[in-house]
Formats: sequence, C-alpha cells, structure tokens
Amino acid sequence: MKIASLSTARLRLSAPDARDIPEIVRLANNIEVVRTLARVPHPFGPEDARYFLDEVVPKEPTWRIGRKSDGALLGFVGLNPMEKPSVMERGYWFGQEHWRQGYATEAARAVVDHAFSKLGVETIVSGHFAMNPASGRVLAKIGFRETGRSKRFSQVAGEALAHVDVVLERSTWRGRAG
Ligand SMILES: CC(C)(COP(=O)(O)OP(=O)(O)OC[C@H]1O[C@@H](n2cnc3c(N)ncnc32)[C@H](O)[C@@H]1OP(=O)(O)O)[C@@H](O)C(=O)NCCC(=O)NCCS
Repeated sequence: MKIASLSTARLRLSAPDARDIPEIVRLANNIEVVRTLARVPHPFGPEDARYFLDEVVPKEPTWRIGRKSDGALLGFVGLNPMEKPSVMERGYWFGQEHWRQGYATEAARAVVDHAFSKLGVETIVSGHFAMNPASGRVLAKIGFRETGRSKRFSQVAGEALAHVDVVLERSTWRGRAG
C-alpha cells in the first residue's frame, strides 16, 4: 500500500524497505519486544521479516521509523484497516535499545495526525495487553481513552491475555489539537 512519508522533529517515517531485513530481525528477535505484541512470533527470523514485508505491509499502511540524525531503523508503526474504511487500528513496536526516548509517542502522534487530516479516518481503535503499561502511557499521551477490557490472543503466550481497549475519535483529536 502506498504511503506518504512523514517527518517529525527527530524521525522520518517512510515505506518499509527489504534492505532493512537484517536490522528488523536483530530488533524483533527479542522476547521483550514481541511478548506484548499479538501476532509476532518468537523466535523471529529472516523469513518472518519477509512475511511482514510481503503479506502485512501491502495490506496495512506501515511506516518504517528512521532516526534523522543517523538513519537508524528504530521500529515500525502501522494502521490496520477495519471493516469500515473510516476505522483504523493502530499498532507499533520499537527495538528495545530505543525505548524510553519518546520515539513511540512522536511517531504514533504523527501517524494519528496524518490519518485524521489526510486519510479521512474518523475513528482509530487501539489497545494494549494489560501487562504493557508503557504502551498504555503512549496512547494516553496522544489522547486515546479506554473503552473497556477484553481478552486477546497472544501468539507468543499461546493464549488469550487481558487487554485494554482504547479509542481516539476525530472530534476528540480536533479538541486536543485546538
Ligand atoms: C510500548 C513501546 C512502543 C513504547 O515505546 P517508547 O518509545 O519507549 O515510548 P515513549 O518513550 O514514547 O513513551 C513511553 C512512556 O511509557 C512510560 N513507561 C515506560 N515503561 C513503563 C512501565 N513499565 N510502566 C509504566 N510506564 C512506563 C514512559 O515513562 C513514557 O511515559 P512518560 O513520557 O510519561 O514518562 C515500546 O516499549 C515497545 O516497542 N514495546 C514492545 C512492543 C509493544 O509493546 N508495542 C505496543 C503494542 S500495544
């Protein structure tokens, strides 16, 4: 799926690139990164990176998050179209060495702003496993609000785990943006 490149103060968000496969594997083949993701396997090898690029990226707008200062690949953020085209589901992951520097908040905010201002999206649903408060914090900072609790299957755990469901609507986003 063709996506627009996005720019923030420190990040460049652009189309995923097959040249990144070794770095994707290095960052994603880490149980700490994937244990809080629903559908990423562990261990994670080059064939999993290839599946991501060939099967997921063409169907779901996905941005490679690069650091402007040195071009380093930090992680990915995506929007998964739901049944209605005006509703998208957001997901992201970053290499562990890049956590806690505000990158997820910066990248997710850029994609949310793009979805509402350019893609005609009305509602973005998201969520996180209850054992992942860092993601909850990122979503709260962007303006997502909790709508309920559910259970969602985790590929790594092999079972359904407690999940916090959140939503951000265009009206709330506009309110936040003033
Ligand atoms: C969740 C994730 C994307 C966060 O990325 P990040 O770049 O570290 O996020 P940021 O630095 O923008 O913000 C993290 C916030 O969570 C907070 N945080 C981090 N670890 C925390 C924890 N264990 N408990 C509570 N808050 C925590 C940070 O303090 C920060 O909030 P603050 O700015 O108010 O201090 C990253 O940890 C990750 O990729 N995890 C693995 C994949 C994943 O879980 N993806 C999301 C699936 S829903």
